[in-house]
Amino acid sequence: MDIKKYFDDITKEFIEELTKVKTYEELSVVRIKYLSKKGVVPMLMLKIKEVSDKKSFGEAYNKIKNFVELTLNEKQKVYETEKLKQELEKEKIDISLPGSSLKRGMMNPYYKIIREIEDIFVGMGYQVEDGPEVENDKFNFELLNIPSDHPARDMQDSLYIDSNILLRTHTSPVQARVMQKAKGKPIKVICPGKVYRRDDDDMTHSHQFGQVEGLVIDKNINMANLKATLELFIKSMFGEKREIRLRSSYFPFTEPSVEVDISCINCGGKGCSMCKNTGWIEILGAGMVNPKVLTMNGYDADEYSGFAFGIGIERVAMLRYGIDDIRRIYQNDIRFLSNFNKICED
Ligand code: PHE
Repeated sequence: MDIKKYFDDITKEFIEELTKVKTYEELSVVRIKYLSKKGVVPMLMLKIKEVSDKKSFGEAYNKIKNFVELTLNEKQKVYETEKLKQELEKEKIDISLPGSSLKRGMMNPYYKIIREIEDIFVGMGYQVEDGPEVENDKFNFELLNIPSDHPARDMQDSLYIDSNILLRTHTSPVQARVMQKAKGKPIKVICPGKVYRRDDDDMTHSHQFGQVEGLVIDKNINMANLKATLELFIKSMFGEKREIRLRSSYFPFTEPSVEVDISCINCGGKGCSMCKNTGWIEILGAGMVNPKVLTMNGYDADEYSGFAFGIGIERVAMLRYGIDDIRRIYQNDIRFLSNFNKICED
């Protein structure tokens, strides 16, 4: 038997079959045919019985076996690469698509303006205090020189929980609380917070709104200190051009008392619809702490004096950011808030 010819014929046959292969699956069929346990190549080994030169047979056998294996592997590699390419193509991620970005939350103007107010007063050496929103009659009225028969209670017709406990009608009870805590020592605090009154809800009023209480107590504190402080606050908040005007007023816990106006943000003082043609806009109440209040809360009124003020938070926010209706501040409408945020970031 001519082993060499026999092996060459099989090799030729193998190559011919391989050229017909078009898919990975077809290639697998050829591999099984030639290399599986009972495939063409292992079966060749049986021929060894028929030859005498076993060494040459062994060499020829190894040659054909290696050739078939190598050729099949190479072809398989080509198909695998091709297959991977196709899969990658199919699963291609379109990186040109815009991603879904996280939306940043926004701060409500109510809180934004509190931060601005706090920054200004902290810069003047004030500390920020806190007080309870649910108060008792003593702190909300009595200790502020508003006894039970006082007509000033009518001005703050209130939301009561029982005959003694109510939602605080102003932040001034914090004055009494801070004084009692400080036990006769000097005080320089502001306290922002919510207050409640039975009120109509309209463009400029709400049954719940915010105030920033201010209280300074020390020796030799006078009205000029109060005016300078408020002037500095107003100019820092609304710009150097703003003027302030003090009008005499009445609060039971301050004596003398004033209402403070600022020159109109809109017209600068000439008169317009915003300031009702007066040129001035009311912004806060203030005064020198009534000696009676000092005494009631543990201070020697002959030695100590002080001033206090109460700023309307929404009022300041509306003027600062040009908000036309107080109710917008509470509605949390994202369209309103996002516009407003742009203004604040400037
Ligand atoms: N508590 C007063 C009000 O609510 C404001 C005020 C505070 C006035 C402090 C004087 C001093 O109207």
